Order: sequence, then structure tokens, then C-alpha cells
Amino acid sequence: MSVEELQSSELGTKEYWDNAYDMEIKNFKEFGDVGEIWFGEGCASRITKWLESNESNKSESVVDLGCGNGMLLMKLAENGWKDLTGVDYSQSAIDLAKGIAKSEEVSISYQVWDILSSEEVFQRKRFGVALDKGTYDAISLSPEDRTQCRQKYISSVKRILKPNGLLIITSCNWTEEELKATFCPAGFEAVALIPAPQFQFGGSSGNKVTSIVFKNIEDN
Ligand SMILES: C[S@@+](CC[C@H](N)C(=O)[O-])C[C@H]1O[C@@H](n2cnc3c(N)ncnc32)[C@H](O)[C@@H]1O
Repeated sequence: MSVEELQSSELGTKEYWDNAYDMEIKNFKEFGDVGEIWFGEGCASRITKWLESNESNKSESVVDLGCGNGMLLMKLAENGWKDLTGVDYSQSAIDLAKGIAKSEEVSISYQVWDILSSEEVFQRKRFGVALDKGTYDAISLSPEDRTQCRQKYISSVKRILKPNGLLIITSCNWTEEELKATFCPAGFEAVALIPAPQFQFGGSSGNKVTSIVFKNIEDN
């Protein structure tokens, strides 16, 4: 199956996210509002529930790619997960996520990182689980060469995941079939599908949200 590139959108630009998180920081400081929960609370609960049932080791390292306000990691922390890292290319997102974690006295490591860069931010650390809720979607909307952006994303994820590590992608712009057609030839095996509701993102309304679990099956 061939995968056709999406139309670019402002949601694929760093400027958009910097502005969005600047606003969310203000709201957090003034009203304690943590900001947008992408794809809703239920989606985060379903991902957490799946992990709880399928990964018994709560000391396993988890990274959230494009973590935004970090609320997915907060949920995992509440459920007893210990080794949690969030990355985002927006400094403002990281500031917001750190502020929220501090206010709740939760220990999560946060770092600014552009996933598409080849910068080695984690030294030799490899993660057992990588989460992505809406970030591959945003990257796929870039005004730059989107095929190249998606390829860079895949190489970065392969570089930071342990062999047999899990990548859990939640997307409303790509179907299950399209995600499989992209990730399976690149050294991932689809191991599960997490049921998800309907959502609206970047102009495409009524899309079904897909949460799919891939396993990293080849050594880097
Ligand atoms: C739709 S939001 C989702 C945020 C968060 N995952 C959530 O579920 O609330 C997409 C996120 O991806 C981040 N992002 C987009 N491209 C990125 C890149 N190349 N590197 C790191 N983060 C990126 C944005 O800053 C934004 O926080």
C-alpha cells in the first residue's frame, strides 16, 4: 500500500506550537489550567490501561515524544511508573510541563529536543516504551519535505528505542493501514490496536483516532 503525503498545515510548524504553549503557560499560571488534552482524557486513559495490562515492569523507561504539557506522563506517574521522560521541541511546552509536574510534586525528566534532529540527547540511554500522541501527526503536516520529515522521525525513534521496545502512536491523520504501511517496512511489527474514539484535528473532521502499538524488531 502506498502512503500519500498530507497537505501541510500551521500545526506542522514550531511557531504554531510555541505560540500555543506561551498561551497555555499564561493560563496555567493565572488559573491553574493545564491546557489541551489532545484526543481527550479517555484516550490517555486507554493508553495507560493498555500499558498497565501489557507491561508489568513499572520501572521500564518511558519517553513521551512531543509531550506538550506532559499530562500523559503525569497519568503514568500517578499509576506508579517511575522512569519517565518527556521531550518536545518547544521550550514553552517543556516549561509548562515542568511547571505542572512541580506543582503536583511529581518527578518527571523533561528535555527540549527536536525529534527530527540527529542530536544525541540521551547519550546511550535506550527506552523500553516510546509514546506519541499527536506528534507524528503534527510532523506529517510540516510545510517542509514531509516524506523526509517522516523518515527522520522513524530513524530517531529507532535510535532511542531498545530492541523489542514499544512505540505507541496515537494518530487522527493516519489510518491503521497507513501507519502499518509506513512503520512495518522500517523495522517495526504491529502488535496491538488500542480502541479509540472520534476526534477533529487540523481541519479533518470526524476522523477516527487510531492508537497502535509497534514493536522495534530490528537491532539498530
Ligand atoms: C498535537 S500536540 C500533542 C501534544 C501531546 N503529545 C499531547 O498529547 O497533549 C503535538 C506536539 O508535538 C510537538 N512537536 C511537533 N514536532 C516536533 C518535533 N519535531 N520535535 C519535538 N516535538 C515536536 C509539538 O510541540 C506539540 O507539543
